[in-house]
Amino acid sequence: MKNFSGKTVYITGGASGIGLGTGRRLAAMGAHIVVLDFNPTDAAHAALEHARCSPAQHIARYQVDMADRAAVLAAVARAANEAGAPDIVINCAGIGVTGEFASMRFEDFDRVIQVNLYGSRHLCEAVLPLMRARGHGNIVLVASMAGITPVYGYTDYGTSKYAVLGFAECLRYELKPLGIEVQICCPGEVETPMVAAERLIIHPATRALKDAGGSIGIDQAVRELIDGMARGKAIFVLGGKARLTFWLRRLVPPSLWYWITDQIVRKAMKTKKAI
Ligand code: NAI
Repeated sequence: MKNFSGKTVYITGGASGIGLGTGRRLAAMGAHIVVLDFNPTDAAHAALEHARCSPAQHIARYQVDMADRAAVLAAVARAANEAGAPDIVINCAGIGVTGEFASMRFEDFDRVIQVNLYGSRHLCEAVLPLMRARGHGNIVLVASMAGITPVYGYTDYGTSKYAVLGFAECLRYELKPLGIEVQICCPGEVETPMVAAERLIIHPATRALKDAGGSIGIDQAVRELIDGMARGKAIFVLGGKARLTFWLRRLVPPSLWYWITDQIVRKAMKTKKAI
């Protein structure tokens, strides 16, 4: 898919960060944008309206908690009635709570899995009949490099993203024969409000491992996401250093991978003690 003009794009988490950036760029390319977000702010809505190239383009927003199956099904049904069925769905809604497992509350772990994993599942359940009826569609599930390589302090977030990858890779086989492409987007670190919040509490070992995968700005992330989507890639990584890490993870034997990353964690722990 190269031409987004006139396409209806649903973006969960479209009120902030990567989702908002992607919505703005696609609106500027002529797409109708439907935002599904826990907090669909006036500011984000205004930014999308400002980005569109014609007043005929729909810019709609729906408040929804992706963890709530009934709410997701109802919001998507309402959006389809009011703004039209989706050609493309991008699941950007996600949360991350970083911290060591020993001090992690069950409620936080549960919430991350509910939003990131079950949210992906509920969205696919909601849009499948709409795409099936039309015989086409693209579903882009935003996972993470944290679903490719393990990160210290990410037992909740990393687990949810590994699971999103597994879910998407299995689902892909089932939907492809129906004309529906399931694509997986794995960003490395992107400078968004989520990452700004994490920086305030990040553990040195988490930081050290994440540094190995690099960090990029929202504009680059959005460009690469839209490019990966347009090329129809089954899986794509955002960020040059993150792409290198992706390939190293696949090529390096696991024992060597763990040896190298254990050294990074050990060094970071020593620095923490010295502070
Ligand atoms: P962000 O925090 O800037 O935006 C996330 C959006 O999701 C917000 O608008 C928020 O209101 C919405 N949201 C959160 N919980 C929700 C819920 N229960 N229901 C509906 N909407 C909800 O985050 P960012 O950084 O733009 O992340 C977008 C996606 O990219 C997430 O899935 C995240 O895990 C993933 N990602 C981000 C990376 C980064 O470094 N920023 C790296 C790898 C993956």
